[in-house]
Amino acid sequence: MAQQTQAAYYTEFGGIGKIQVGPLDLPEVGEGEVRVRVKAAGINPVDYIVREGHFQQVVPNAFPAVPGWDVAGIVEECGHGASRLPEGSEVYGYVRRPVVQHGTFAEHIVVPECYLALRPQRLSWQAAGGLPLAGLTAYQSVIVAGGLKAGETVLILGASGGVGGTAIQLAKNVGATVTAVASGQNADYMKELGADFTIDYKAGPVAEAVQKVAPQGVDLLFDAVSGDTLSQSLSALKPTGRLISVLNDGKALKLPASVHFAHVMAQPSVPGLNHLRELADAGKLAVPIAATFSLADTKKAFEQIESKHTTGKVVIVP
Ligand SMILES: NC(=O)c1ccc[n+]([C@@H]2O[C@H](COP(=O)([O-])OP(=O)(O)OC[C@H]3O[C@@H](n4cnc5c(N)ncnc54)[C@H](OP(=O)(O)O)[C@@H]3O)[C@@H](O)[C@H]2O)c1
Repeated sequence: MAQQTQAAYYTEFGGIGKIQVGPLDLPEVGEGEVRVRVKAAGINPVDYIVREGHFQQVVPNAFPAVPGWDVAGIVEECGHGASRLPEGSEVYGYVRRPVVQHGTFAEHIVVPECYLALRPQRLSWQAAGGLPLAGLTAYQSVIVAGGLKAGETVLILGASGGVGGTAIQLAKNVGATVTAVASGQNADYMKELGADFTIDYKAGPVAEAVQKVAPQGVDLLFDAVSGDTLSQSLSALKPTGRLISVLNDGKALKLPASVHFAHVMAQPSVPGLNHLRELADAGKLAVPIAATFSLADTKKAFEQIESKHTTGKVVIVP
């Protein structure tokens, strides 16, 4: 008989009400795979986008579907060929698989070892479980695609969320000057993460506020919000600046040809996870936790992330 695990899952696309929690069969541990005892699993906006069926064109789904792409946990069995992370290894990963079915909101998961890296020891389990997706997104956007360097200026939209909060810290680590945009109530939070200046997107056009702190314009605009806030911010970019968005494909933005644009879709990456671990273990990267929920309360975790106003990371602790 197959081994079972407690898991959150849904059997058809839809709203939060589709989430159930109960026992599911665990797959056999196959070639190159490991079984992990999940200690913490971060929830991300993509988890409700997938649950609502809006991601089917990009990644196919199979039911019952366990949501969740972030994980931190302990390797408890290694399949044939999985030898990099032996039994007992404390690991974390961004597990975006080719088919959405075996996600991370469960007590145990079976996962290809290639998604996992050793976890940051200086972070709590909750913080480690909340870092992979948001951390890799910020790193691949601001540092890799955006090429941010010491002495440059960056404007970060959505800077109090999981992605934006990590982006502030990565930008400060390379020696950039950071202007962070979120609601006014999060100004102190963004400053604690390292922001030099903060802007309340509800207080007026963002570019006018940027003009006061970066009169020459910014070298890099990192967009984790899109919509009106992005439209209002475009004129804050230097004529030869770079715009990196994790939401907008750039087609409707009518950018000058001199502006470099890229849309980033975060990719699973062990080297990227290793880099984030080194920063965290050096005390240069924190993961503030907004809330933790038990597996039984997975619906509440979805309610929080679907508010679109989470400060820090929401994490499920099975
Ligand atoms: N392409 C990719 O690979 C990728 C990867 C990760 C995330 N994403 C996307 O990136 C976005 C952010 O993800 P996340 O995990 O950071 O979300 P999150 O943790 O829910 O954070 C959202 C943040 O956006 C802020 N915000 C809301 N409306 C805003 C506005 N008009 N202007 C400025 N800030 C605003 C909120 O701050 P206040 O509460 O202060 O309003 C909140 O802190 C999501 O839409 C997600 O789907 C894409």
